[in-house]
Amino acid sequence: MRNQLKDWVLAVPKAELHLHIEGSLEPELMMQLADKHGVNLPYSSIDEVRQAYDFENLQSFLDLYYLGASVLRDEDDFYQLMYAYLQNCRANNVVHSEIMFDPQTHTARGIGFDVFMPGFQRAMHQAEREWGQSCFLIMSFLRHLSEVSALATLDQAQHYLDGISAVGLDSSEQGNPPEKFARVFAKAKALGLKRVAHAGEEGPPAYVWGAAKVLDVQRIDHGVRSIEDPVLMDYLLAEQLSLTVCPLSNTKLRVFNHMQEHNILELLDRGLLVTVNADDPSYFGGYLADNYLALIEHLPLQFDQLQQLVRNGFTASFLPEETKAKWLAKVDSLN
Ligand code: ADE
Ligand code: ZN
Repeated sequence: MRNQLKDWVLAVPKAELHLHIEGSLEPELMMQLADKHGVNLPYSSIDEVRQAYDFENLQSFLDLYYLGASVLRDEDDFYQLMYAYLQNCRANNVVHSEIMFDPQTHTARGIGFDVFMPGFQRAMHQAEREWGQSCFLIMSFLRHLSEVSALATLDQAQHYLDGISAVGLDSSEQGNPPEKFARVFAKAKALGLKRVAHAGEEGPPAYVWGAAKVLDVQRIDHGVRSIEDPVLMDYLLAEQLSLTVCPLSNTKLRVFNHMQEHNILELLDRGLLVTVNADDPSYFGGYLADNYLALIEHLPLQFDQLQQLVRNGFTASFLPEETKAKWLAKVDSLN
Protein backbone atom coordinates (compact mmCIF):
# COMPACT_ATOMS: atom_id res chain seq x y z
CA MET A 1 0.00 0.00 0.00
CA ARG A 2 2.70 2.52 1.04
CA ASN A 3 4.72 1.53 -2.04
CA GLN A 4 1.70 2.00 -4.29
CA LEU A 5 1.24 5.52 -2.93
CA LYS A 6 4.92 6.24 -3.53
CA ASP A 7 4.78 4.96 -7.12
CA TRP A 8 1.65 7.00 -7.76
CA VAL A 9 3.06 10.26 -6.43
CA LEU A 10 6.27 9.87 -8.44
CA ALA A 11 4.29 9.28 -11.64
CA VAL A 12 1.56 11.90 -11.27
CA PRO A 13 2.02 15.44 -12.68
CA LYS A 14 2.72 17.80 -9.79
CA ALA A 15 2.93 21.56 -9.19
CA GLU A 16 5.31 23.30 -6.81
CA LEU A 17 4.38 26.70 -5.39
CA HIS A 18 6.99 27.38 -2.71
CA LEU A 19 10.57 26.99 -3.86
CA HIS A 20 13.44 29.43 -3.33
CA ILE A 21 15.78 29.13 -6.29
CA GLU A 22 18.74 30.13 -4.11
CA GLY A 23 17.76 27.23 -1.84
CA SER A 24 18.21 24.78 -4.71
CA LEU A 25 21.95 25.52 -4.90
CA GLU A 26 23.55 22.09 -4.49
CA PRO A 27 26.92 21.89 -2.71
CA GLU A 28 28.60 20.67 -5.93
CA LEU A 29 27.58 23.79 -7.85
CA MET A 30 28.33 25.98 -4.81
CA MET A 31 31.93 24.70 -4.62
CA GLN A 32 32.36 24.90 -8.41
CA LEU A 33 31.22 28.55 -8.51
CA ALA A 34 33.28 29.46 -5.43
CA ASP A 35 36.29 28.10 -7.29
CA LYS A 36 35.37 29.94 -10.50
CA HIS A 37 35.06 33.32 -8.75
CA GLY A 38 37.63 32.87 -5.99
CA VAL A 39 35.01 33.16 -3.26
CA ASN A 40 36.28 31.98 0.12
CA LEU A 41 33.83 29.61 1.80
CA PRO A 42 34.41 28.11 5.24
CA TYR A 43 34.21 24.57 3.77
CA SER A 44 36.98 22.48 2.25
CA SER A 45 34.83 19.74 0.71
CA ILE A 46 31.32 18.97 -0.46
CA ASP A 47 30.90 16.66 2.55
CA GLU A 48 31.77 19.52 4.87
CA VAL A 49 29.10 21.68 3.23
CA ARG A 50 26.51 18.96 3.81
CA GLN A 51 27.63 18.47 7.41
CA ALA A 52 27.03 22.17 8.07
CA TYR A 53 23.35 21.71 7.21
CA ASP A 54 22.26 20.96 10.75
CA PHE A 55 19.94 23.76 11.78
CA GLU A 56 18.48 24.85 15.10
CA ASN A 57 15.92 27.26 13.69
CA LEU A 58 15.12 29.48 10.71
CA GLN A 59 17.89 32.01 11.41
CA SER A 60 20.65 29.40 11.64
CA PHE A 61 19.57 28.19 8.19
CA LEU A 62 19.29 31.69 6.71
CA ASP A 63 22.87 32.50 7.74
CA LEU A 64 24.17 29.59 5.61
CA TYR A 65 21.67 30.22 2.81
CA TYR A 66 22.91 33.81 2.33
CA LEU A 67 26.52 32.65 2.57
CA GLY A 68 25.89 30.01 -0.11
CA ALA A 69 24.22 32.56 -2.41
CA SER A 70 27.42 34.66 -2.35
CA VAL A 71 28.97 32.38 -5.02
CA LEU A 72 26.32 33.44 -7.58
CA ARG A 73 27.96 36.25 -9.51
CA ASP A 74 27.43 36.25 -13.27
CA GLU A 75 24.56 35.59 -15.67
CA ASP A 76 25.68 32.04 -16.36
CA ASP A 77 25.70 31.16 -12.63
CA PHE A 78 22.02 32.11 -12.36
CA TYR A 79 21.29 30.22 -15.58
CA GLN A 80 22.99 27.07 -14.27
CA LEU A 81 21.18 27.29 -10.94
CA MET A 82 17.77 27.63 -12.59
CA TYR A 83 18.40 25.05 -15.29
CA ALA A 84 19.52 22.45 -12.73
CA TYR A 85 16.32 22.98 -10.74
CA LEU A 86 14.14 22.73 -13.86
CA GLN A 87 15.87 19.52 -14.96
CA ASN A 88 15.04 18.10 -11.56
CA CYS A 89 11.40 19.11 -12.13
CA ARG A 90 11.40 17.22 -15.40
CA ALA A 91 12.87 14.08 -13.82
CA ASN A 92 10.19 14.11 -11.09
CA ASN A 93 7.10 15.07 -13.10
CA VAL A 94 6.89 18.53 -11.56
CA VAL A 95 5.16 20.06 -14.57
CA HIS A 96 4.55 23.53 -13.16
CA SER A 97 6.56 25.55 -10.69
CA GLU A 98 6.24 29.03 -9.14
CA ILE A 99 9.79 29.95 -8.23
CA MET A 100 10.85 32.56 -5.66
CA PHE A 101 14.03 34.56 -5.95
CA ASP A 102 15.53 37.06 -3.49
CA PRO A 103 16.80 40.08 -5.49
CA GLN A 104 18.13 41.94 -2.46
CA THR A 105 20.52 39.05 -1.68
CA HIS A 106 22.19 39.86 -4.99
CA THR A 107 21.72 43.62 -5.39
CA ALA A 108 23.32 44.11 -1.94
CA ARG A 109 26.49 42.60 -3.49
CA GLY A 110 26.31 44.85 -6.56
CA ILE A 111 24.73 42.17 -8.76
CA GLY A 112 21.75 43.68 -10.54
CA PHE A 113 18.52 42.61 -12.23
CA ASP A 114 20.40 42.86 -15.55
CA VAL A 115 22.56 39.91 -14.39
CA PHE A 116 20.20 37.47 -12.64
CA MET A 117 17.01 38.04 -14.63
CA PRO A 118 18.53 37.15 -18.04
CA GLY A 119 20.15 34.08 -16.43
CA PHE A 120 16.88 32.87 -14.88
CA GLN A 121 14.89 33.60 -18.02
CA ARG A 122 17.35 31.91 -20.39
CA ALA A 123 16.99 28.69 -18.37
CA MET A 124 13.20 29.00 -18.12
CA HIS A 125 12.77 29.61 -21.85
CA GLN A 126 15.09 26.72 -22.68
CA ALA A 127 13.15 24.33 -20.42
CA GLU A 128 9.86 25.52 -21.92
CA ARG A 129 11.22 24.96 -25.42
CA GLU A 130 12.95 21.63 -24.74
CA TRP A 131 10.25 19.77 -22.80
CA GLY A 132 7.34 22.15 -22.24
CA GLN A 133 8.22 23.05 -18.62
CA SER A 134 5.84 25.61 -17.15
CA CYS A 135 7.26 28.08 -14.61
CA PHE A 136 6.54 31.50 -13.12
CA LEU A 137 8.72 33.81 -11.04
CA ILE A 138 7.90 35.29 -7.62
CA MET A 139 10.07 38.21 -6.50
CA SER A 140 10.47 38.01 -2.73
CA PHE A 141 11.38 40.87 -0.43
CA LEU A 142 13.66 40.23 2.55
CA ARG A 143 11.65 41.12 5.64
CA HIS A 144 14.69 41.73 7.88
CA LEU A 145 15.42 44.74 5.63
CA SER A 146 13.37 47.94 5.53
CA GLU A 147 10.27 48.63 3.48
CA VAL A 148 12.24 51.44 1.80
CA SER A 149 14.65 48.78 0.51
CA ALA A 150 11.71 46.66 -0.73
CA LEU A 151 10.24 49.70 -2.51
CA ALA A 152 13.59 50.39 -4.17
CA THR A 153 13.72 46.75 -5.27
CA LEU A 154 10.26 46.97 -6.82
CA ASP A 155 11.48 50.07 -8.67
CA GLN A 156 14.61 48.30 -9.92
CA ALA A 157 12.40 45.48 -11.24
CA GLN A 158 10.32 47.82 -13.41
CA HIS A 159 11.71 46.64 -16.78
CA TYR A 160 11.30 42.97 -15.79
CA LEU A 161 7.75 42.97 -14.44
CA ASP A 162 6.37 41.20 -17.54
CA GLY A 163 8.36 38.15 -16.45
CA ILE A 164 7.32 38.29 -12.79
CA SER A 165 3.96 36.91 -11.62
CA ALA A 166 3.93 37.87 -7.96
CA VAL A 167 5.78 39.41 -5.06
CA GLY A 168 6.56 37.51 -1.87
CA LEU A 169 7.97 38.08 1.61
CA ASP A 170 10.61 35.86 3.20
CA SER A 171 13.65 35.74 5.55
CA SER A 172 13.60 36.23 9.36
CA GLU A 173 9.95 36.14 10.40
CA GLN A 174 9.94 36.86 14.15
CA GLY A 175 9.90 40.61 14.80
CA ASN A 176 9.20 41.46 11.15
CA PRO A 177 5.41 41.40 10.81
CA PRO A 178 3.70 41.67 7.42
CA GLU A 179 2.35 45.14 8.30
CA LYS A 180 5.89 46.48 7.87
CA PHE A 181 5.43 45.92 4.09
CA ALA A 182 1.90 47.30 3.62
CA ARG A 183 2.90 50.05 1.17
CA VAL A 184 5.12 47.96 -1.08
CA PHE A 185 2.50 45.21 -1.34
CA ALA A 186 -0.19 47.81 -2.17
CA LYS A 187 2.09 49.18 -4.88
CA ALA A 188 2.73 45.68 -6.25
CA LYS A 189 -1.03 45.05 -6.35
CA ALA A 190 -1.57 48.31 -8.23
CA LEU A 191 1.03 47.13 -10.75
CA GLY A 192 -1.03 43.98 -11.34
CA LEU A 193 1.22 41.60 -9.42
CA LYS A 194 -0.14 38.75 -7.31
CA ARG A 195 0.99 38.45 -3.72
CA VAL A 196 2.22 35.73 -1.35
CA ALA A 197 3.97 35.95 2.03
CA HIS A 198 5.71 33.65 4.49
CA ALA A 199 3.70 33.71 7.70
CA GLY A 200 3.04 31.33 10.56
CA GLU A 201 6.26 29.35 10.01
CA GLU A 202 7.93 30.48 13.24
CA GLY A 203 5.76 33.56 13.69
CA PRO A 204 2.36 33.64 15.42
CA PRO A 205 -1.10 33.39 13.83
CA ALA A 206 -1.30 37.22 14.03
CA TYR A 207 1.25 37.31 11.20
CA VAL A 208 -1.01 35.11 9.05
CA TRP A 209 -3.85 37.56 9.72
CA GLY A 210 -1.54 40.43 8.74
CA ALA A 211 -0.53 38.74 5.49
CA ALA A 212 -4.16 38.00 4.63
CA LYS A 213 -5.79 41.26 5.67
CA VAL A 214 -3.05 43.87 5.19
CA LEU A 215 -0.94 42.43 2.36
CA ASP A 216 -4.00 40.93 0.65
CA VAL A 217 -2.13 37.78 -0.37
CA GLN A 218 -3.45 34.96 -2.54
CA ARG A 219 -1.39 32.38 -0.63
CA ILE A 220 0.29 31.97 2.75
CA ASP A 221 3.73 30.36 2.63
CA HIS A 222 3.95 27.78 5.45
CA GLY A 223 1.09 28.94 7.73
CA VAL A 224 1.30 25.81 9.89
CA ARG A 225 0.88 27.82 13.12
CA SER A 226 -2.58 28.93 11.91
CA ILE A 227 -3.92 25.90 13.74
CA GLU A 228 -3.41 27.76 17.06
CA ASP A 229 -6.19 30.24 16.17
CA PRO A 230 -9.65 28.69 15.57
CA VAL A 231 -11.07 31.94 14.11
CA LEU A 232 -8.18 32.09 11.64
CA MET A 233 -8.78 28.46 10.70
CA ASP A 234 -12.43 29.29 9.93
CA TYR A 235 -11.29 32.26 7.86
CA LEU A 236 -8.74 30.26 5.84
CA LEU A 237 -11.38 27.60 5.23
CA ALA A 238 -14.08 30.06 4.16
CA GLU A 239 -11.72 32.00 1.88
CA GLN A 240 -9.91 28.86 0.65
CA LEU A 241 -6.70 30.83 1.17
CA SER A 242 -4.04 28.25 0.47
CA LEU A 243 -1.09 27.26 2.65
CA THR A 244 2.11 26.20 0.88
CA VAL A 245 3.40 23.71 3.45
CA CYS A 246 7.01 22.43 3.33
CA PRO A 247 7.30 19.26 5.43
CA LEU A 248 11.07 18.57 5.22
CA SER A 249 11.81 22.26 5.82
CA ASN A 250 9.60 22.25 8.92
CA THR A 251 11.39 19.28 10.46
CA LYS A 252 14.88 20.51 9.48
CA LEU A 253 14.17 23.94 11.03
CA ARG A 254 12.50 22.32 14.08
CA VAL A 255 9.08 23.81 13.57
CA PHE A 256 8.11 20.17 14.26
CA ASN A 257 10.53 17.79 15.96
CA HIS A 258 9.50 14.75 13.91
CA MET A 259 7.57 14.24 10.71
CA GLN A 260 5.11 12.12 12.72
CA GLU A 261 4.18 15.33 14.59
CA HIS A 262 3.53 17.40 11.46
CA ASN A 263 0.02 18.89 11.35
CA ILE A 264 -0.46 18.80 7.56
CA LEU A 265 -3.12 16.08 7.68
CA GLU A 266 -5.05 17.95 10.34
CA LEU A 267 -5.00 21.11 8.21
CA LEU A 268 -6.07 19.09 5.17
CA ASP A 269 -8.84 17.23 6.99
CA ARG A 270 -10.21 20.56 8.23
CA GLY A 271 -10.76 21.44 4.54
CA LEU A 272 -7.92 23.92 4.07
CA LEU A 273 -6.32 24.31 0.65
CA VAL A 274 -3.00 22.79 1.73
CA THR A 275 -0.18 22.12 -0.76
CA VAL A 276 3.15 20.29 -0.48
CA ASN A 277 6.43 22.02 -1.42
CA ALA A 278 10.21 21.77 -1.00
CA ASP A 279 11.15 25.33 0.12
CA ASP A 280 14.98 24.99 -0.06
CA PRO A 281 15.58 21.46 -1.34
CA SER A 282 19.36 21.50 -1.30
CA TYR A 283 19.47 22.55 2.37
CA PHE A 284 16.58 20.44 3.67
CA GLY A 285 17.40 17.10 2.10
CA GLY A 286 14.88 16.75 -0.66
CA TYR A 287 12.95 18.05 -3.63
CA LEU A 288 9.19 18.05 -4.03
CA ALA A 289 8.84 14.30 -4.59
CA ASP A 290 10.97 13.62 -1.48
CA ASN A 291 8.57 15.73 0.57
CA TYR A 292 5.63 13.61 -0.59
CA LEU A 293 7.60 10.43 0.07
CA ALA A 294 8.42 11.59 3.62
CA LEU A 295 4.73 12.22 4.30
CA ILE A 296 3.81 8.76 2.98
CA GLU A 297 6.55 7.22 5.12
CA HIS A 298 5.75 8.93 8.41
CA LEU A 299 2.07 9.85 8.42
CA PRO A 300 -1.05 7.67 8.01
CA LEU A 301 -1.73 9.28 4.65
CA GLN A 302 -4.52 7.69 2.58
CA PHE A 303 -4.78 7.78 -1.21
CA ASP A 304 -7.62 10.31 -1.28
CA GLN A 305 -5.61 12.66 0.96
CA LEU A 306 -2.53 12.31 -1.21
CA GLN A 307 -4.58 12.94 -4.33
CA GLN A 308 -6.13 16.00 -2.69
CA LEU A 309 -2.68 17.43 -1.86
CA VAL A 310 -1.51 16.97 -5.45
CA ARG A 311 -4.75 18.48 -6.82
CA ASN A 312 -4.40 21.45 -4.44
CA GLY A 313 -1.00 22.26 -5.97
CA PHE A 314 -2.71 23.06 -9.27
CA THR A 315 -5.83 24.64 -7.72
CA ALA A 316 -3.75 27.10 -5.65
CA SER A 317 -1.42 27.97 -8.53
CA PHE A 318 -1.49 31.13 -10.62
CA LEU A 319 -2.12 29.12 -13.81
CA PRO A 320 -5.11 30.13 -15.98
CA GLU A 321 -8.29 28.24 -15.07
CA GLU A 322 -8.33 26.16 -18.26
CA THR A 323 -4.75 25.00 -17.70
CA LYS A 324 -5.58 24.08 -14.10
CA ALA A 325 -8.55 22.05 -15.35
CA LYS A 326 -6.34 20.22 -17.85
CA TRP A 327 -3.83 19.19 -15.16
CA LEU A 328 -6.53 18.29 -12.63
CA ALA A 329 -8.11 15.96 -15.19
CA LYS A 330 -4.71 14.30 -15.70
CA VAL A 331 -4.25 13.85 -11.95
CA ASP A 332 -7.74 12.34 -11.66
CA SER A 333 -7.14 9.99 -14.59
CA LEU A 334 -4.13 8.40 -12.92
CA ASN A 335 -5.69 6.09 -10.36
N1 ADE B 1 14.08 32.02 2.67
C1 ADE B 1 14.35 30.82 2.15
N2 ADE B 1 13.68 29.87 2.79
C2 ADE B 1 12.95 30.47 3.75
C3 ADE B 1 12.05 30.04 4.74
N3 ADE B 1 11.74 28.75 4.90
N4 ADE B 1 11.50 30.95 5.55
C4 ADE B 1 11.80 32.23 5.41
N5 ADE B 1 12.65 32.71 4.51
C5 ADE B 1 13.22 31.84 3.67
ZN1 ZN C 1 10.18 29.55 2.04
